[in-house]
Amino acid sequence: SRVKEVEFVKSSGRARDCPKDNKPEFAILGRSNVGKSSLINALVRKKEVALTSKKPGKTQLINHFLVNKSWYIVDLPGYGFAKASETARMDWSSFTKGYFMNRDTLVAVLLLIDASVPPQKIDLDCANWLGRNNIPMTFVFTKCDKMKVSKGKRPDENIREFQQLIRQNYKVHPSWIMTSSVTGLGRDELLLHMSQLRNY
Ligand code: GTP
Ligand code: MG
Repeated sequence: SRVKEVEFVKSSGRARDCPKDNKPEFAILGRSNVGKSSLINALVRKKEVALTSKKPGKTQLINHFLVNKSWYIVDLPGYGFAKASETARMDWSSFTKGYFMNRDTLVAVLLLIDASVPPQKIDLDCANWLGRNNIPMTFVFTKCDKMKVSKGKRPDENIREFQQLIRQNYKVHPSWIMTSSVTGLGRDELLLHMSQLRNY
């Protein structure tokens, strides 16, 4: 599960513009600012392969990165960006849903969830939507280094609450991994997990 090389391939505005070479791929999904682009950079140990920003809404297209010339990791625009216009939000859902429903090479979605905040309804809804559509997913909790949140709970407590809500209300029970793009926590575990999924 080593990453030897990674190259940015293309940005696509629509599902049908995505690469057509049939390589397995993993989509990184989650709220704006959850750390999707940062996670990609941490996985491939490059600073700015995927562009990151303190401002939400940085990633606007479907971005394909080819790893070891054999599989893709895909950076998607975030959802739940409060400042986005209603039209932008509508576009987000038709555009990403189009991608999920039509991408035959999709191995799994890595659903990123910010462990430094309490469970968010939009993340629960998203997990539920993926589950109902039989799209395989793994929960990847991000920002687990933020052990001292000034008020509120610790990441492990937020994660436990999230899992509890999922168990109580939804019919999905994905595997899950704790990560931090700052400390590298979970990086090897996630790469191993992805290589196992690819080899099924
Ligand atoms: P959009 O492209 O806008 O949807 O955002 P994104 O999900 O790609 O988030 P991005 O990777 O740009 O990171 C957003 C902010 O969170 C940046 O300021 C990052 O430095 C910060 N961040 C990301 N991952 C971590 C992490 O593991 N720990 C901490 N402490 N901060 C993080
Ligand atoms: Mg991004």
